Amino acid sequence: MKKVYFLLAAALVAVACQTYRDLPAPAYQTSWKTKVIPPSPQSPGGDPEKGWDYLIYGDYIGSGVPFALLEKRIAKSPDTVLQRMGTNAQVPYALNVFPAKNGTLVGNGNCFTCHASAFEGKIILGLGNSFSDYRRNLKPLGKGLRFAMKLAYGKTSPEWEAFEDFDHYFNAMAPHIRTNQPGVNPAAHLAEACTAYRDPTDLTYTGAPLYPLPSYTIATDVPPLWNVQKKNALYYTAVGRGDFSKLLFQASVLGIPDSAAARKSVEHFKDVVAWLRTLEPPAFPYPTDPGLAASGKALFEAHCSSCHGVYGATESYPNKVVALDVIRTDPYYATYAVQAPIVSWYNQSWFGTSLPQSRFEPEAGYIAPPLDGVWATAPYLHNGSVPTLDDLLNSSQRPNRWERSGDSRDYDYEKVGWKYKAKNRSGGKWTYDTSIPGYANSGHYFGDKLSGAERKALIEYLKTL
Ligand code: HEC
Ligand code: HEC
Repeated sequence: MKKVYFLLAAALVAVACQTYRDLPAPAYQTSWKTKVIPPSPQSPGGDPEKGWDYLIYGDYIGSGVPFALLEKRIAKSPDTVLQRMGTNAQVPYALNVFPAKNGTLVGNGNCFTCHASAFEGKIILGLGNSFSDYRRNLKPLGKGLRFAMKLAYGKTSPEWEAFEDFDHYFNAMAPHIRTNQPGVNPAAHLAEACTAYRDPTDLTYTGAPLYPLPSYTIATDVPPLWNVQKKNALYYTAVGRGDFSKLLFQASVLGIPDSAAARKSVEHFKDVVAWLRTLEPPAFPYPTDPGLAASGKALFEAHCSSCHGVYGATESYPNKVVALDVIRTDPYYATYAVQAPIVSWYNQSWFGTSLPQSRFEPEAGYIAPPLDGVWATAPYLHNGSVPTLDDLLNSSQRPNRWERSGDSRDYDYEKVGWKYKAKNRSGGKWTYDTSIPGYANSGHYFGDKLSGAERKALIEYLKTL
């Protein structure tokens, strides 16, 4: 009996090691402390209204599950958020129904799967969704869909043709986006796994991965979209450089058939970027104390503006990346990004070489984000490890394990962030565990030297941004 336990324990240890042993060792040494990212030329023009239309009706994922097959399952949850018309009025807001290349009507997820979130029970567009849970194994779903499609239509049907690309990439990415933490988002690994199966030149399916994929999924918080207008580089590690419309089109690697379809679809992304630039952060819903906020502003400008910029009439934003050994927040995401094989794939691919050009250039650090609407974007830091602003500004107070209720009405307007219970052990639907590799709540110690009264003033000011 003892032997069985031993074997079981050994097997568990082996699994645990295998899961994150292939992460690169966190490298803290860089020759620079901070780096300012210069602007890149952007495609001129762009119509925000057309961009909005394309986001909520468009065919940017290229392929998907035939609407006829989806219809029975999803008709019960119609779109009350985007107020769409036609077939799209019958499906949830996070889904677009569109004709695939051969005309078959299909459904697939849209940007608001991850870039809209419940807040006080209402969906806010552009707010990162911190209520997704990718701990589930999606492999059976991929296999199940394939089976249902074969049964319903067979492999020589137009329906299969409209589904096939999505089928390839869904099954390719499913093993690589499973997280060991709720509330965090594996989008970077989703893109990495899909592109691994695409020919860099024409984006067609390769059948086998072109580069090795890690078995450990480091996921992140989802940043708010209203900050795009201030940014010279996209993503936490500033990896996204060059033309934004091309960069954003990356989401399409989950289903777009090839570069010919991509060329047609990416045209619309100039409009999508124009729409993103019109987004405004939500305003703090309660009165704030103007005197306290004014002293908070002075503190902010003395201690925080060098990295996060100036707000109000003399607005400016420095686009500064802070090296890992200075910021000292969890290093795994950036350490992986700087050596990830997707970087060279991307730079020699259709994305990097055709006009308008974009490129990947990750940094061993994190960008200091604009703080507009920061009161609403809890949890904080790139990995979402800190539940409130009050905890972010006082590192000794940060909980190592914290549990949210999962109800978007449980927001704390004093500490500013999610109401939570500190826990001694992991487990529970919405417990965040900072002891898991990639999810540490360390670093960003800039608030520690302030007094309690100063932190209070600073938070009052942050509410007004
Ligand atoms: C599966 C979830 C998911 C989907 C779908 C998705 N995103 Fe994202 N998005 C993320 C995550 C996670 C990040 C942060 C990654 C990082 O910064 O390293 C992100 C980052 C971004 C950023 C950069 C923001 C910043 O401040 O740097 C933009 C802009 C963006 N997404 C736009 C879009 C658009 C437009 C679509 C649809 C075409 C889309 N995303 C689809 C999850 C998603
Ligand atoms: C040396 C540069 C630097 C200074 C000074 C600095 N920050 Fe930051 N800040 C950063 C970086 C970099 C991040 C992102 C770190 C990460 O995500 O791992 C960040 C993240 C944050 C976040 C989290 C944003 C989010 O949406 O998750 C807040 C809030 C914040 N800082 C507030 C402040 C305040 C308030 C001060 C002044 C007391 C300050 N920062 C001082 C660089 C700085």
